[in-house]
Amino acid sequence: MTLPNAELIYPKIRASHRYWSPVVHRLTPYVPGEQPKISQLVKLNTNENPYGPSPQVLDAIQAELSDALRLYPDPNAERLKQAIADYYGVTPAQVFVGNGSDEVLAHIFQALLQHPAPLLFPDITYSFYPVYCGLYGIECIAIPLAEDFSLRVADYLRPNGGIIFPNPNAPTGCLLPLADIEWLLARNPDAVIVIDEAYIDFGGETAIVLVNRYPNLLVTQTLSKSRSLAGLRVGLAVGHPELIEALERVKNSFNSYPLDRLAIAGAVAAFADREHFEHTRQAVIASRMELIGALQKLGFETLPSAANFIFTRHPQRNGAELAAALREHRVIVRHFRQSRIDQFLRITVGNPAQNAALITTLGQILAEC
Ligand SMILES: Cc1ncc(COP(=O)(O)O)c(C=O)c1O
Repeated sequence: MTLPNAELIYPKIRASHRYWSPVVHRLTPYVPGEQPKISQLVKLNTNENPYGPSPQVLDAIQAELSDALRLYPDPNAERLKQAIADYYGVTPAQVFVGNGSDEVLAHIFQALLQHPAPLLFPDITYSFYPVYCGLYGIECIAIPLAEDFSLRVADYLRPNGGIIFPNPNAPTGCLLPLADIEWLLARNPDAVIVIDEAYIDFGGETAIVLVNRYPNLLVTQTLSKSRSLAGLRVGLAVGHPELIEALERVKNSFNSYPLDRLAIAGAVAAFADREHFEHTRQAVIASRMELIGALQKLGFETLPSAANFIFTRHPQRNGAELAAALREHRVIVRHFRQSRIDQFLRITVGNPAQNAALITTLGQILAEC
């Protein structure tokens, strides 16, 4: 017997979405950068690392591929928390880990940023923040960045239930000095300040050095960028043990095992191989400088970047059209249809061959019309 098509049986239900929880109707989900299935692309749209992970990471994952996969992983990922604590000179009780920093951030929004007073973040920032606000019903206020896209900490001195921003910021790449972060921490003792350091290893100094002095500071990081492990999904937060306890309470009410055995083994190895980390991060930083120089020769204006991407515009050319033209030539970059930044392209720093392909293609496009 062939089963009738579900759409024939349930047409009205599908149309009305009447089984959805009320919150689902209100959600505006995050749209991640495209992961195209086409081969031979110059893929510079999601800030992945152009270099592979440490060979020690691959060995550690291989070694973990055994009969032991029938067993659950350590729900507390103690080995990994210890490795991170040793790396940053904190205690394991100050460390939280999760399935990518997006998951860590989601728990932070629910555990620490859901208050009657509004959450503050910049008007131009990581577009997942307003999505979490929608999911958890958190009121938020977007604080405009300055004209030059720098973040003025004095603008955040207003009643709030928390403050969050990336440092360096995304998608601008601009870095806020640690002294400014400390200035704000000292003046905002009644709410948590989250510094999202997804890109810190490409040119900034981590605020983790401040966590023992400021119980209201929580720093998040990811292994997706500077440690080339976007596919493994590992993120972390470092802060006062009481902030971490709040995150553990939410995590253990959601998923006890966010990191699988392979992720824990690979992440531990990633922190152990400092040489690979240093080598690849310096290569990206050097390429970033070359890329900014080459773009300048083509007439582009690029914001100062401390990240593994740059934010650039051409004074005579439309941003959306440039992104579309690059795409036709199989070069993918990110363009945001958002006011203030719709003339910019966010371009991930690639390896020298990818960067050369980008520059050659842009040169052709600019010469064509
Ligand atoms: C500012 C910022 N924070 C967090 C993330 C999430 O990283 P992941 O979930 O891969 O750890 C990203 C990813 O692009 C990001 O740009």
